[in-house]
Amino acid sequence: MLEQAELRAAARRILTSNDRGGYTVPTHGLYPYQWNWDSAFVALGFSTFDVGRAVTELESLFEGQWINGMVPHIIFRADERSYFPGPSVWRANHSPPTSGITQPSVAASVAWQLWQKADDESDQRRLRALFPKLMASHRWFHQFRDPDHLGIVVMTHPWESGRDNSPEWDEPMANVDTSRVEPYQRRDLDHADASMRPTQAQYDCFVALLQFGRECGWDAAAIGRTSPLRVADVGMSMIHLRANRDLQAMASALGEDEASREIALWIARGEQGAQLLWDPARAAFCSRDLITGKPSGYVTSASFLAHYAGVGSSDQRAALREHWSRISARCSFMCPSFDPEETKFDSYRYWRGPIWAVVNFLIAKGMAEAGETQAAHRLGDDMRALIAAGGFREAFDPITGAGTGGDLFSWTAAMYLAWLDSAND
Ligand code: GLC
Repeated sequence: MLEQAELRAAARRILTSNDRGGYTVPTHGLYPYQWNWDSAFVALGFSTFDVGRAVTELESLFEGQWINGMVPHIIFRADERSYFPGPSVWRANHSPPTSGITQPSVAASVAWQLWQKADDESDQRRLRALFPKLMASHRWFHQFRDPDHLGIVVMTHPWESGRDNSPEWDEPMANVDTSRVEPYQRRDLDHADASMRPTQAQYDCFVALLQFGRECGWDAAAIGRTSPLRVADVGMSMIHLRANRDLQAMASALGEDEASREIALWIARGEQGAQLLWDPARAAFCSRDLITGKPSGYVTSASFLAHYAGVGSSDQRAALREHWSRISARCSFMCPSFDPEETKFDSYRYWRGPIWAVVNFLIAKGMAEAGETQAAHRLGDDMRALIAAGGFREAFDPITGAGTGGDLFSWTAAMYLAWLDSAND
């Protein structure tokens, strides 16, 4: 088992070796481009030893921002044969080329953390320049991904949630027509074992939804209102509410009073929206299919982001504590991405069981702030133990602790560094 100093050095090496010149790839091979929320987390990792480089990561992410404000989920810097679907499949009209969908909006929260660390004037100036871009991206979410102003975030493709094949999407995806999917060749299976990756049926659905967006000419209003998949994602909604709180803190620090008032309305709406996601039958925050109106009924790691978002009555938090103990009793390591008591739990397959360092980091931050220190410490200790034993893998099996997915993974390295940093604050 490696010592902390060696692990810290290894984590920094991973970030610098996955740096492709101003932007960082999640891992070599499996993910050869710049991913949206990966870059935001990576920026946090860089900020522990180079704040300027951290700001550069956010700046390069926003080079992909569309004129309508959307920050896409992938920025394609080159057409790599090792990845499907590449820019020629998405056909989004942007330079640099991008995908046509987004990912969870952690960028504003990261920008606020960088602002608090930046003592260099030029870094402060660069962060200030990012502020209107962050505002535009949040406006995009409110206009197009919450057209009825419910205070939630609607995802129109499972890849937007970042929790690509969570069982929460199984039912909503069953209603997506895959009969017109054009022939394609998956590339992910060249890099990772099929037992870990999404199934073929899920992939067909991913491609059908991509084709739908492309046929809409990536018109955000049309997609937000008519996509065959419209799910209020508990993860994106909680993360976005927190991002609004952090964006508002940044607005105050910058003296942006008008923006601050606009954000206050978004926060009030988000607090109400979070309550729409409370499923009384399950006593948990669950995603909701907006086409059928049905809650998923599943407890996932995203359900525990309530503290991070700053929502949940004392009864709701007590119910979450019960789920937490029930789930802890079943796992050697916390927090699995999916409820281990459900039949769809799969400790090894992406987002249907494995542990992700980034989600753990957010849950732990929220829990520590809410005074749930035991749970927060457990998450930190488990993450460090998993990494010390298994390396900086993409995800980890919550039962055996085995690493899954890609190796030498940027966001796992970044979260390790951020965790050490917060422990030293
Ligand atoms: C997988 C994950 C997604 C992540 C991407 C790159 O698709 O599900 O959340 O952004 O890999 O790491």
